[in-house]
Amino acid sequence: MEKPNVVTCTAPVNIAVIKYWGKRNEELILPINSSLSVTLHQDQLKTTTTVATSRSFQEDRIWLNGKEEDITHPRLQSCLREIYTLARVFGVEGELSGIARQGSGSACRSMYGGFVQWIMGQKDDGKDSLAQQVEPETHWPELRILVLVVSAERKPVGSTSGMQTSVQTSCLLKHRAESVVPGRMREMIEAVRRKDFAAFAELTMKDSNQFHATCLDTYPPIFYLNRVSQQVISLVHRYNKHYGETRVAYTFDAGPNAVIFTLQQHVPEFVQVVRHFFPPETNGGQFIRGLPVSSVALSEELKQTIGLESTPKGISYIISTKAGPGPCVVEDQHLLGSDGLPKKTV
Ligand code: DP6
Repeated sequence: MEKPNVVTCTAPVNIAVIKYWGKRNEELILPINSSLSVTLHQDQLKTTTTVATSRSFQEDRIWLNGKEEDITHPRLQSCLREIYTLARVFGVEGELSGIARQGSGSACRSMYGGFVQWIMGQKDDGKDSLAQQVEPETHWPELRILVLVVSAERKPVGSTSGMQTSVQTSCLLKHRAESVVPGRMREMIEAVRRKDFAAFAELTMKDSNQFHATCLDTYPPIFYLNRVSQQVISLVHRYNKHYGETRVAYTFDAGPNAVIFTLQQHVPEFVQVVRHFFPPETNGGQFIRGLPVSSVALSEELKQTIGLESTPKGISYIISTKAGPGPCVVEDQHLLGSDGLPKKTV
């Protein structure tokens, strides 16, 4: 048997602060508006992909989380077709976000580290609908991200079908894409460049709220936020009000988990506030995971101004992280053996 060529790559997760919601072309995955995200550090969250090729292999096969999946899935075929073409032409060098986009729209922003925009583009063939780095991960070292994991339930409506219904039925979404997002993209890029946390945070919260408003304007409506998500929103606004400045921001995607942005100096107190109003299980797993967070005591006054009712176990755990780099090729984490089959089930 010919010795296979085995390559492994890790890729990051990204969180949008200006949301992508709605396609103008379903097949090529072309969006109705541009979007902007922060790439999260792979020390805390990442995906690992191994590709093994050999002339001796009889067929193409794919495993996702150790389970074999259908290789004929249209999105997967779009990506594989492009990669084969690319390999022939360049030896797989070149612009890869256009390929990632055809797997899943928001994934194209994970092709770069730091602060990344996905420019919607104008062309019918999608050649100008690409991701571009706005600033690298080293640009804003004080920025911190906390993922508040609210519930492990599957999202009620998947983003692909949710945004389809929104495009068909929501006039708020049309207004958002045409008249709101272009200005917000310019303001957000400016806020990131200037490291203006208050401007960044306010735009982030307003854009998350507008995205969820378009979900409610969809017919039938889509609800992604639950009671705990709404409590987190109130908590953040009351916290900021207490200090008379915007120290913390939230954003939510197609599910109830909250993603919090703040600056390093505010992390210990804010985490303590979350722990106070959402007391975790005492014998449960670690509540804070990822970057270490020191513990502080809260003032009675702060607890009183926030004044939320306590929701025990409302938040399962928090992942503490920061901005990080784009995909990396790794030498020592191959998931496939020299026979091209998974080494172990995950
Ligand atoms: C709410 O990228 O998952 O997270 O292109 O259909 O695969 P498809 O959708 P997907 O949508 C992400 C939606 C979002 C907002 C965002 O990440 O910009």
